[in-house]
Amino acid sequence: MKKWSGRFKKKGSRYLYSYTSSIYFDSFLFRYDIICTLIHINMLLKLRIINKKDFKIVKKSIFFIYKKNKFKEIFEDIHLNLESLFIKYTGNIGNKIRTSRSRNDLVNTDLRMWVIDRGKIIASKIISLLKILLLNSKKNYKKVFVGFTHFQVAQPITFGHYLMSYYEMFKRDLNKMLFFIKNISCPLGSCALSGSNYRIDRNLYSKKLEFKKLNKNSIDGVSDRDYILDIIYVFSLISIHISKFSEDIINYSNNCLNIIILGDEICTGSSIMPQKKNPDIFEVMRSKIGVIIGNLNSIIIILKSQTLSYNKDNQEDKKIIFESYMVIKDTLDIFIKTINKIKVNKKKCTKILYKNFSTATDIADYFTKNNIPFKISHEMVSKIIFFCIKNKLSINNNIKEKIYKKFSFFKKNKINFPKISVKKSIKSKISLGGTSPKRVKKNIIEEKKYLNEKINFLNKNF
Ligand code: ARG
Repeated sequence: MKKWSGRFKKKGSRYLYSYTSSIYFDSFLFRYDIICTLIHINMLLKLRIINKKDFKIVKKSIFFIYKKNKFKEIFEDIHLNLESLFIKYTGNIGNKIRTSRSRNDLVNTDLRMWVIDRGKIIASKIISLLKILLLNSKKNYKKVFVGFTHFQVAQPITFGHYLMSYYEMFKRDLNKMLFFIKNISCPLGSCALSGSNYRIDRNLYSKKLEFKKLNKNSIDGVSDRDYILDIIYVFSLISIHISKFSEDIINYSNNCLNIIILGDEICTGSSIMPQKKNPDIFEVMRSKIGVIIGNLNSIIIILKSQTLSYNKDNQEDKKIIFESYMVIKDTLDIFIKTINKIKVNKKKCTKILYKNFSTATDIADYFTKNNIPFKISHEMVSKIIFFCIKNKLSINNNIKEKIYKKFSFFKKNKINFPKISVKKSIKSKISLGGTSPKRVKKNIIEEKKYLNEKINFLNKNF
């Protein structure tokens, strides 16, 4: 059976079909195409295009069609392949399926349904990740860790506080994902581009297919692919956050720094260097998700150059979204598993923090609290640090006398040199969002509550 009937005198060339067919990559829409078709057939029944008996025959044929998974290139894509199967199993009834429906609105409905379902799967994986992060933050809310800026030792923090910063990033990703999938609308009934001259009920399509809204303009209905960009953008954000974490862990577990110790279960050795323990899994995560960021760019390029309304360019979006989904799903699964296998080398952290004057800001703050303007305090502390470096002294040792002799500042301002330990520095950061264990603990409790409420809400509404 020809797809386009009598418009063409010559057959399409082989290379035309092999190059432009999408059946090799769009068959993942199979299930959604069947659901949309069933809903549409229901509409055709309401419009009396088919009768009840026809409807029953179509319903029965689904059983056979569902079992079929061999498609033909000649039928271009999943939609025409399924139509040919409907015709095979229902005869002339199958010829009516195209009434008031185009592949243009169909593909955009199928894909939206697929994206919503996959978006929910990713959202549930992010929730699992958030739970793991909360659990590990709780275990580590007091544990001393090194805070970096410019990848230079900056100030003491706790490992729990560090993990909670990633919790915040992934929480934002979750909320963006939920926002975007909630706003995906139903375009079915837009037909080719201008709508339908049958008395279809588009609200019913939307309701039956469980969309929260529908596209209000049929031209937009067949051409809008913004939702793919939205979802790949969220995938990219998740990717950036996973990649950043991987990068941290690779650096922190480096044997010169060694503030993080990785479980053997997630490390590999070298075929030639017997001493090696490599963080391959984080390197591969960092690398794999690069594909998603590349895909974000690809989808932007596909969308930017199209004239209204539907263009076949859009066909290529499926490869991109499908690949991006597979990569983010697998990577999230692995990422969740690795978090429990990361331990802090507390001794090394403390050593590094003292060696690198990480409490210098606290000392300057101490002077400021004794009425010295911060700029002056800063200058003074930096001079002391210079002195310490020159004389191979550490700021936590008893340097008092040496400093008193050298700097008249203390006498002049009637001020003592403070002893500020790493722990004291951490404890003192009581501002909202700060690293003090009290704050972090409170934050973990609040977020646990928030997450439970979120899960309850999602169970009811999604
Ligand atoms: N396979 C096509 C796609 O994925 C379906 C729509 C084709 N529409 C058309 N008018 N040729 O976009």
